[in-house]
Amino acid sequence: MCERVILVTGTPCVGKTSVARLLASKLDALYVNLTDFALGKNLVLGRDDERGSIIVDENIMRIRIREVVEHCKKRDVVVDGHYAVFVVPEELATHIFVLRRDPVELRRFMEQCGFSGCKLWENLASEILDACLCDALNIYEKERVCELDVSGKNVEEIVCEILEAFKNFGECRIGVVDWLGKLEREGLLEELLRI
Ligand SMILES: Nc1ncnc2c1ncn2[C@@H]1O[C@H](COP(=O)(O)OP(=O)(O)O)[C@@H](O)[C@H]1O
Ligand SMILES: [Mg+2]
Repeated sequence: MCERVILVTGTPCVGKTSVARLLASKLDALYVNLTDFALGKNLVLGRDDERGSIIVDENIMRIRIREVVEHCKKRDVVVDGHYAVFVVPEELATHIFVLRRDPVELRRFMEQCGFSGCKLWENLASEILDACLCDALNIYEKERVCELDVSGKNVEEIVCEILEAFKNFGECRIGVVDWLGKLEREGLLEELLRI
């Protein structure tokens, strides 16, 4: 059984996979990408064509993830996915990192990832309105949640911050960003918040 079950969550394109892979390699942890896991284990119920995403069976996924954690031979497991808080059994997750990226920058990342139209605006609104953080805090007490502003930082820097955060996790903060306020001050809210 793993000692630490580390979730890396955040809006699509925020940089979860890049960060979680490097983090897992530095910790010599087991790495679980939820999309690959769902596809590999046949847990896909269907496809959401409008959003270009897969629909997974979250109940079976929870059972399978529990098996992975309980049979894990490593000290740590890193779970990468924007719905990690919904499919990792609540009592197993020890550290939840919510990556946040300035919506102006995130929009550029999304465009580079090939997002456009509704999919882009919907996901950008999720970031502006703190959706992934709220999802985490609806399930977990704030002591297990650490929000990191990754804007303008490279993957190595972000992973260093995460490794530092483990040393004193209690000091990790939530409420570190205020995209609504920032965009409003910059006069960009109407342009970026389109739903
Ligand atoms: N810190 C970073 N700086 C610059 N580019 C990044 C950074 N993190 C990720 N990227 C790039 O942004 C895109 C989305 O990253 P990815 O890790 O796949 O995000 P996610 O898993 O959250 O969807 C990829 O093209 C990736 O190479
Ligand atoms: Mg990813």
